Amino acid sequence: GVKIVTIGGGSSYTPELMQGFIKRYNTLPIREIWLVDIPDGKKKLEIVGALAQRMWDASGYDVKVHLTLDRREALKDADFVTTQFRVGLLNARIKDERIPLSHGMIGQETNGAGGMFKLLRTAPVIAQIIQDMKELCPNAWLINFTNPSGMITETVIRQCGWKKCIGLCNVPVNIMKNEPVMIGKKEGDLDFVFGGLNHFHFHRAYDKKTGQEVTHEIARAMMKDDKSNMANIQNEKFLLDQLLSMDCLPCGYHRYYYLTSQMRKKELEDYAEHKTRAEMVKEVEHQLFELYKDPALHEMPELLGKRGGKYYSDAACETINAIYNDTGRVMVVSTENKGALVDLDPQAIVEVSARITRHGAEPIAFGRMEPAVRGMVQLMKAMEETIIDAALHGDYGKALEAFQINPLVDHGQCAQDLLNEMLVANEKYLPKF
Ligand code: NAD
Ligand code: G6P
Ligand code: MN
Repeated sequence: GVKIVTIGGGSSYTPELMQGFIKRYNTLPIREIWLVDIPDGKKKLEIVGALAQRMWDASGYDVKVHLTLDRREALKDADFVTTQFRVGLLNARIKDERIPLSHGMIGQETNGAGGMFKLLRTAPVIAQIIQDMKELCPNAWLINFTNPSGMITETVIRQCGWKKCIGLCNVPVNIMKNEPVMIGKKEGDLDFVFGGLNHFHFHRAYDKKTGQEVTHEIARAMMKDDKSNMANIQNEKFLLDQLLSMDCLPCGYHRYYYLTSQMRKKELEDYAEHKTRAEMVKEVEHQLFELYKDPALHEMPELLGKRGGKYYSDAACETINAIYNDTGRVMVVSTENKGALVDLDPQAIVEVSARITRHGAEPIAFGRMEPAVRGMVQLMKAMEETIIDAALHGDYGKALEAFQINPLVDHGQCAQDLLNEMLVANEKYLPKF
């Protein structure tokens, strides 16, 4: 039987993960699941953990859900470790979003100033987890969801030297589910090729039957209703002339970069009304845990669909299933480039379509990017590398450099002022700068 360990098990997303494993039990025979959290998350862990056990009991499969605050006890002999923790919990995210907005800038908790700080808080913790894994479960795979997912995966593979790691995101899953429908086809009718970085990836689509490219058809359909956009991102319309001029489609997160003025205006309104995404999520989370407490509940409630991470378990459980059964299934993952994107370092961690086997991810060529796409991707990769360097060495100059090149930060003295304020606000979770 398979032993799964989930770090950040007290997350309100955990029921989705359980549902994903229950659906796949016939090919992925799990024996035990360990949900790991910290003292600050103990209450959440107990509530969602009890629901997780009820879900398994209702399924009829004999799986034991263990709840623990002792990560090392849990990691012993694990086969797969999944990570979905948030250092500082939602209060830290509120700061990630609100402090930049108080300076008139978009915070963006995964790749703006907020995302850079999420990385600064998280890198030291993931490095400790890898140390524990080296000792306690040296053969395990790490399936990472913790954001910024691409940067954390880069930290694990390149900085900590743990090769058996795959980074995931639910955005590609949502794209592949919804884009066929947007052009009058069914899920599964299209082939997709993805290339880029986490929350900064591009893709092309092809009709499976005819082989014909339908990328521009989807771009036009996006103007009517972009059904592939995520619940957490304001659904502003991209500029059609730009999309038709590009040789690929952007992801939902590109709205922050290509539609900055509109997105900032909306976010500043939310900021004034205390309705930033983090604050909205706090409310939904509270309602979710009220539902989870009900001993009669033994399935994932629909309300969880209000979270941006909807369908994340399809990525997680399918990837684990593909490794375990050596299926070769194509998934979109953060992994070593190996030449799939010719415009980036072969060793860089990128988000690409890849074949998943028991050896891990084999990336599929995306080919050359046109200059306007290439330039943005290279800039964002440079930003990622720079802030990771800052995180692992407590290097203030590197943090400032990353702020100065991140497109979501206004540059100049204002960038340094923002950096300084966020360093103070996050002190408790940071190495010494
Ligand atoms: P959350 O605030 O509920 O945090 C989840 C749990 O992590 C909490 O119970 C918390 O106590 C725990 N935690 C914090 N520090 C920990 C540590 N050092 N060790 C173990 N547990 C710790 O967060 P959430 O909204 O459920 O999201 C969880 C994480 O998953 C976030 O990083 C989020 O960005 C990420 N996420 C990623 C995707 C994706 O597409 N990659 C989708 C959804 C969520
Ligand atoms: C998307 C992203 C995740 C992110 C989530 C935020 O699904 O892929 O990486 O964590 O949105 O959703 P939330 O409900 O927390 O705002
Ligand atoms: Mn994501």
